[in-house]
Amino acid sequence: MTTINTAPTSHKALLKWVDKMITLCEPDTFYWCDGSQKEADGLFEMMVERGTCVKLNETKRPNSYLFRSDPGDVARVESKTFICSQNKDGAGPTNNWEDPRTMRRKMKDLFQGCMHGRTMYIIPFSMGPVGGPISKIGVEITDSPYVVVNMRIMARIGTPVLEALGHDGFFVPCLHSVGYPLDGDKEDVAWPCDPENTHIVHFPEERAIVSYGSGYGGNALLGKKCLALRIASTLARDEGWMAEHMLILGVEEPDGKKTYVTAAFPSACGKTNFAMVIPPKEMEGYKVTCVGDDIAWIKPGPDGCLYAINPEAGFFGVAPGTSEGTNPNAMASCSRDTIFTNVALTDDGDVWWEGMSKEPPAHLIDWKGNDWTPESETPAAHPNSRFTAPAANCPVIDPDWEKPEGVRVHAMIFGGRRMSDVPLVSQAFNWGHGVYLGATTGSEMTAAAEGTMGKLRRDPMAMLPFCGYHMGDYFRHWIKMQRSLTETPRIFNVNWFRKDKDGNWLWPGFSDNMRPLRWIVERATGRAFAKETPIGWMPSYSDLDWRGLDFSEEQFEALMAIDRDTLRRQTLQHEELFIELFQHLPKEMIFERELLISRF
Ligand code: GTP
Ligand code: SPV
Ligand code: MN
Repeated sequence: MTTINTAPTSHKALLKWVDKMITLCEPDTFYWCDGSQKEADGLFEMMVERGTCVKLNETKRPNSYLFRSDPGDVARVESKTFICSQNKDGAGPTNNWEDPRTMRRKMKDLFQGCMHGRTMYIIPFSMGPVGGPISKIGVEITDSPYVVVNMRIMARIGTPVLEALGHDGFFVPCLHSVGYPLDGDKEDVAWPCDPENTHIVHFPEERAIVSYGSGYGGNALLGKKCLALRIASTLARDEGWMAEHMLILGVEEPDGKKTYVTAAFPSACGKTNFAMVIPPKEMEGYKVTCVGDDIAWIKPGPDGCLYAINPEAGFFGVAPGTSEGTNPNAMASCSRDTIFTNVALTDDGDVWWEGMSKEPPAHLIDWKGNDWTPESETPAAHPNSRFTAPAANCPVIDPDWEKPEGVRVHAMIFGGRRMSDVPLVSQAFNWGHGVYLGATTGSEMTAAAEGTMGKLRRDPMAMLPFCGYHMGDYFRHWIKMQRSLTETPRIFNVNWFRKDKDGNWLWPGFSDNMRPLRWIVERATGRAFAKETPIGWMPSYSDLDWRGLDFSEEQFEALMAIDRDTLRRQTLQHEELFIELFQHLPKEMIFERELLISRF
């Protein structure tokens, strides 16, 4: 065993765990990451040399790289994601469960010698500003240099984190391997992985994570979904806070008033776009600033109000559909210092994806590394291709985005992709009703995970793939949170995705989402008008700001229409979810359902 550097820590438990993992995984060498630019430069240089990635045109896309994954490793794999609590009931019916002892044995077999021929990287990382009162520390062990350079953008990593950890601080151990040992004379490949044996495993009681076989996104960057949502949700339950699949944004009004809002939409349903939305120019004086685009950790402050931090430091954003027209702030964020995965390469060494420009370039190298022309029948970029960009690159990053104690939350929004039935915007009557709205949210499936595209599924609070414990207890926790607060944020529901019978969007979306957002902010701070309906408070046509948009009252009525019979039928179907969660379901959910049915 050789080492490239010595352990820069005296933390006994950490050193012991690392030693044990070295013995188990048998890497050729191991290396403690310091998080420096020099270190990242060296790793990129090595990966370019080995053909793992392409350096993009330094003039067009400074300090940026393109990676192409194995075609079998392109998104999260919910079917291979496990919550291994002591009891099956702890994970609940919406998670895959395996007995922790059985799973540990299985993992031990898979990890035995799995790093042969490779370097083991040890990455200390902080989710949230280093040393912040809401932040948590993890240490990821990985044999993927791609993971190291991504983690460096998505989290705070290296020496300052070890300093904050001290010699006995709490950390979440996160073990990762691509599962491709270089035994004998086995040659390495550009994207090593083992899709057949992929396992993304969480031990919630031990607060530990083990991931094998995938190098992609949330499967491999373990600070993100594994720590900041699945493990954090269990920590949050135990410690009285919330870990949510939510963006955080700030709305600045013409008079300078600032209001922060969080929003939970399922994967690839528009969080990144909404988090940095640019208001229509006619809404002069309004500005949206971004705190985060994917995850929010939300905690009661000393004043009994909720405060949110973004535990991440970068955006792992969906590339297709992102353009100067739909999201110029995301385009600016990934204009430099960015890692692209599974997008297409242009002849001049830049990137392209579907939706970036109306006219595709005449020739590209597609995400699989093959020649591509506009005549090709397959997309040039994978539908779940992504950019990893530093949040600091975002032109509208909020000045307080790294404030350790977070920003005060006045409103929380739930939403999803719903072609029909769900109106543009509504407000829950109260916290309990809002929790019910979030719990019963449905969305049509996207390319961000395996599954049937477009299929409607229930995705409570957009947390179905990310809740680390029983979903019924999670609802209970939401209900309970109210008791520790002097003032709760107002809760809203939105849907940008309603279509007419010919399949055309009823709502232009993107920057026009600022219109319902303005109403939300004013409602949450006790200003705008609304009318009472069976599903909650809703704006009338005259309650929204229409400056700069030609949108008739008839169009608005179609977008806001609620059909009592359909909604009644759908509400009755909530029973299915409730029966599934029955023993853990808070009684408030049953009351809310009865109230809703009686209002129809
Ligand atoms: P994850 O990172 O997977 O959690 O998802 P996300 O919610 O951040 O996804 P993202 O914002 O990247 O969603 C991208 C998809 O939503 C793209 O296909 C966009 O074109 C589409 N989208 C975003 N906002 C709107 C909108 O207002 N209207 C419509 N029709 N599509 C939108
Ligand atoms: C999601 O799927 O919700 C993501 C991408 O944000 S990943 O990190 O791969 O889970
Ligand atoms: Mn997400």
